[in-house]
Amino acid sequence: MHTRVGIVGAGPAGLMLAHLLHQKGIESVVLDTRTREEIEGTIRAGILEQNTVDLMTETGVGERIKRVGSVHHGIELRFGGRGHRIDFDDLTDGRGVTVYPQHEVLKDLIEQRLADGGEIRFGVSDVEVEGITGDTPSIRFTEDGAEEVLHCALVAGCDGSRTQTRSLIPHPDVRQDHFRQYPFAWFGVLVEAPPSSEELIYAHHENGFALISTRTPEVQRLYLQVDPEDSVDNWSDDRIWNELHTRVAGDDVQLKEGPIFQKSILPFRSFVCEPMQRGRLFLAGDAAHTVPPTGAKGMNLAIADVYVLARAMGEFLNRGETAALDAYTTTVLPRVWRAQHFSWWMTSMLHRMPGSSGFDLNRQLAELDTVTRSRAGRTLLAENYVGTPLE
Ligand code: DHB
Repeated sequence: MHTRVGIVGAGPAGLMLAHLLHQKGIESVVLDTRTREEIEGTIRAGILEQNTVDLMTETGVGERIKRVGSVHHGIELRFGGRGHRIDFDDLTDGRGVTVYPQHEVLKDLIEQRLADGGEIRFGVSDVEVEGITGDTPSIRFTEDGAEEVLHCALVAGCDGSRTQTRSLIPHPDVRQDHFRQYPFAWFGVLVEAPPSSEELIYAHHENGFALISTRTPEVQRLYLQVDPEDSVDNWSDDRIWNELHTRVAGDDVQLKEGPIFQKSILPFRSFVCEPMQRGRLFLAGDAAHTVPPTGAKGMNLAIADVYVLARAMGEFLNRGETAALDAYTTTVLPRVWRAQHFSWWMTSMLHRMPGSSGFDLNRQLAELDTVTRSRAGRTLLAENYVGTPLE
């Protein structure tokens, strides 16, 4: 079997890359060990930067986002028992974010890929990439019990944080890994209830962080900072609501309760590998970097990677020019590190460090006060939250 680009992983990076390559007349095959149902049913984050929405709209996959996504023009930072609005409209010249779940983005991309005659092989196993340092890489995999070989000119490693493809860049001889672990996790729930607030609430509290987010007018997404060793079994619905009410307390907000129908604990880490390429292999999205969830940068960063990668692959495959491909890592890394910084900043400003002192708590409150009382501070936060334009 032959194609131009072999793509490992049908997440946001892999599917968007295949879609963007198709627009440049370049054929690809996407492989994933998961089934289509698993991919379309896994709950992840739900905030799209303006860039992501614009790119999806410009390339013909933004119709459903425009129809059912909900545009948000600000967020609230809540501390000291009071809300402080960050007004995106005013601070970023009308840019905003759209609440639209990641698995819905994947559904839209899969549907478009299949409508365009694209190939996605779901539920394959034993995926092995070979020959990336030569001119004729290939991907070996098993499908329905039969071994197949996909010959291609380029390979994209878009296989997420549990990536296999990253290990093809030898560590530590060629690849450096930058890693930070955090001493907490998020406990996320989905609730059948109307929204408690028109905009997302990021709450700082001495018990720990809480986030009030949303999915649809009928379904809300709520998070609590917990210990990474904690288990969903320790959290009865009553305990969840008590803790949410405590952390998001105030006269100006009334949390609306409803049946909780999904509970999960999310890991929390920062990771970047460098370089993000070797020979004919190029990593994108979580295969190359992970951000903590605060600020919802993960999927948006994956889309920003493949925007650059698709253009570079296009120049190589359509015109034989190698400069952009050679420069892929150095082109995307500054945005990756800015997103790392932003996610780390939002995380460290809003979460309670285990064992933190009165000094630490008051320093955090002073930082939140500094950021929100200054237009420059609010602008810095807003510009990074809605996302700086794609280069
Ligand atoms: C959501 C996740 C985030 O990490 C965030 O900062 C905001 C919202 C969400 O899942 O809704």
